Amino acid sequence: MIFLRNIINFRGAKHMRIPLLNLKAQYESIKQEIDESIARVVSSQNFILSEEVSHFEKEVAHYVCAPYGVGVASGTDAIILALRALEIGEGDIVITTPFTFFATSESVSILGATPVFVDIEPYTYNIDAEKIEKVIKKMSKSQRSKLKAIIPVHLYGQCADMDPIMALAKKYNLKVVEDCAQAIGAKYKGVNAGTFGDAGCFSFFPSKNLGGFGDGGMIVSSNPELIEKVKRLRVHGSIKQYIHQDIGYNSRLDSLQAAILRVKLKKLDAWLERRRAIANEYNRAFLDSDICIPRAAEYNVHTYHQYTIAVENRDKMMDSLNAAGIAARVYYPVPLHLQPCYSSLGYREGDFPVAEKASKEVLSLPVYSELTAEDIAFVIDGVKNIFKKNLC
Ligand SMILES: Cc1ncc(COP(=O)(O)O)c(C=O)c1O
Repeated sequence: MIFLRNIINFRGAKHMRIPLLNLKAQYESIKQEIDESIARVVSSQNFILSEEVSHFEKEVAHYVCAPYGVGVASGTDAIILALRALEIGEGDIVITTPFTFFATSESVSILGATPVFVDIEPYTYNIDAEKIEKVIKKMSKSQRSKLKAIIPVHLYGQCADMDPIMALAKKYNLKVVEDCAQAIGAKYKGVNAGTFGDAGCFSFFPSKNLGGFGDGGMIVSSNPELIEKVKRLRVHGSIKQYIHQDIGYNSRLDSLQAAILRVKLKKLDAWLERRRAIANEYNRAFLDSDICIPRAAEYNVHTYHQYTIAVENRDKMMDSLNAAGIAARVYYPVPLHLQPCYSSLGYREGDFPVAEKASKEVLSLPVYSELTAEDIAFVIDGVKNIFKKNLC
């Protein structure tokens, strides 16, 4: 899947005047520091769980104001290991959103638990806290006894409405694992994404706002026991060499990735600020049209991992934009309750109308700090002209 996504990214970037992301330009802007960091690891020949990893864990934890961080091999593994450490597994039920990247619910299913989906809010595209309780109330007694956790996803770079979610978690004694894969640096009522629940899970997939040169992820938490367990699980459940307390995983963050990400973390705030400035420029430009612009909830500091508009004639609009040299992409065209692998869960089209509508209308435009003023003007003109012509 990740391999496939890379190929698509590469192809997308090749033909576009304005690609969806320009990682080469980002690299050029920090080449010397990155190259030095790689050289440092190479000359040390210390590739596994070196000081680079432990420094980076502390730096990320400090950045998001969490007491602890543990580096793992990917954002997906971060969710899996966090759920495992919370003892969620076979037969359990976990509530999450149907409008996210597949890894969110896949992590639940991999552990033998069942995802139960709850529809999203129309404008933030995040799980609708009000609907969570309705779903819980409709559960049978036996289902309720199996319900163990909620995974809110901070989609496109802004937080889900965490206060009511945390209140429900308290009321029904549920764990909360935040999927922050798209939201490092996002804030909800001034508090960092990843620090509300029992664990916050980050992805350093190359296209993320803080992206490595390969896969990587991190779990942050204020619970030292959970952190110790995750540290064990990522090294085959080992407490000391060749003594295995748990059946674990091989899921470590590479020293090379950590070294690269340490350089990038120092730039992150400036990059996020630039993303917000570009998003605001797009918003101003599209305000007088019928394009539905992304809305940051008033309680959120958005990080615009994606700048996502919604239009009725979305596929036509995407094709026209791509033909005009402006990369545009759909995240996500098929909501999770309608994925073939979940047919046995018994969901039908119409079950989550807001998520289904979003999957038909959303379209993400290029937003990253290397865009020039000329690029931004090109995107704005292109979107406005094509929108008018397509009568979207
Ligand atoms: C919302 C969401 N959750 C989980 C993941 C999984 O992260 P990774 O690709 O690092 O495994 C991603 C990244 O693609 C994501 O966007």
